[in-house]
Amino acid sequence: MILRIDNTAQFEFALQSAVELLRAGRPVAIPTETVYGLAANALDPRAVAEVFRMKKRPAANPLIVHVSGSAMARDCARHWPAIADKLAAEFWPGPLTLVVQRSSIVPDIVTAAGPTVGLRFPAHPFAEALIRECGFPLAAPSANRSMEVSPTTAAHVAESLGDDVPLIIDAGPARIGIESTVLDVSESPPRVLRPGMIHIDQLRRSIGDVIFGGADESNLRSPGLLRKHYAPRARLVIWRWQDATELLAKTRELGVPLNAIHILIRQDSGPLMGSFGRIECLPEEPEAFARSLYSELRKSDAAGARVIVVEAPPETPEWTAIWDRLTRASTSGPDGSAP
Ligand code: TXA
Ligand code: MG
Repeated sequence: MILRIDNTAQFEFALQSAVELLRAGRPVAIPTETVYGLAANALDPRAVAEVFRMKKRPAANPLIVHVSGSAMARDCARHWPAIADKLAAEFWPGPLTLVVQRSSIVPDIVTAAGPTVGLRFPAHPFAEALIRECGFPLAAPSANRSMEVSPTTAAHVAESLGDDVPLIIDAGPARIGIESTVLDVSESPPRVLRPGMIHIDQLRRSIGDVIFGGADESNLRSPGLLRKHYAPRARLVIWRWQDATELLAKTRELGVPLNAIHILIRQDSGPLMGSFGRIECLPEEPEAFARSLYSELRKSDAAGARVIVVEAPPETPEWTAIWDRLTRASTSGPDGSAP
């Protein structure tokens, strides 16, 4: 069932329905400001197991626990560093997940039996009200099957998980559009495990030294870091070109009919014509680009694209998270070289 929350009466009804299901140990797909999440009572291992089953998610990939504020976050943490306080004050509610030492109330299944837990206070009125009303934190991965692009609308959730989910809350398109920044503050200096729209310069301005990635991909510490993780079905390439002639020459080399090639350009790159399957103009601001990216990838998949050509974005910090998601979704580097 899908419930909309366009007015107060709908919001209240959806809230009560979601609370009832969650209290009964069932999962509910909920909106957050980043992407839709598949939520379950984080303190109930059987409810969390259901989320892993629905997503077909490997048990080694830990879930983010969503809280309604710093007090609930502290309950989930064995040690809450001063830096976490500072970051929570500045960026919560918002698209920042803090990885800290976990407390004993967090079951093994949530953290993949690891010693840390990822905590996030989402900036969405429904998610916030829901966690407060439940009184327990919600473990919520993105509401898609494992390895698919994250859902940014309720329709995407329904496409991915279908009738498996007892309830999907429809709050319209997600405001941020890509997943939260994951920052490990359990060690010093803090380390960005997954870039998001809160970028490393903003974190450095707040807490000083922050390092980027470098985590070993093979140990599954943050499988979101694995290269092939957020992928559409079509092959995705990230290219630069001087003019339409060069683009056409490059696309011919793919050996795919032009009508099965979709081109995602940015508004500031000027008009483009050609007999491609689709030419879509994406916004030139990183925030708006991020907001539309996943639904554009899904649109191309639905239209049967075999190749999606994405025009390489700028290389400034605001675009790091977008570069990250594009690179993961691609089978070749920015210049067409192998990854
Ligand atoms: O924006 C988001 O973060 C969304 C919304 C629903 O909140 N959630 C999300 O969850 O993207 P998920 O499960 O699709 O991605 C969570 C990422 C994974 O890469 C996971 O490995 C990492 O966070 N993660 C979770 N707990 C961790 C931990 N204790 N240590 C390291 N990485 C962790
Ligand atoms: Mg995910």
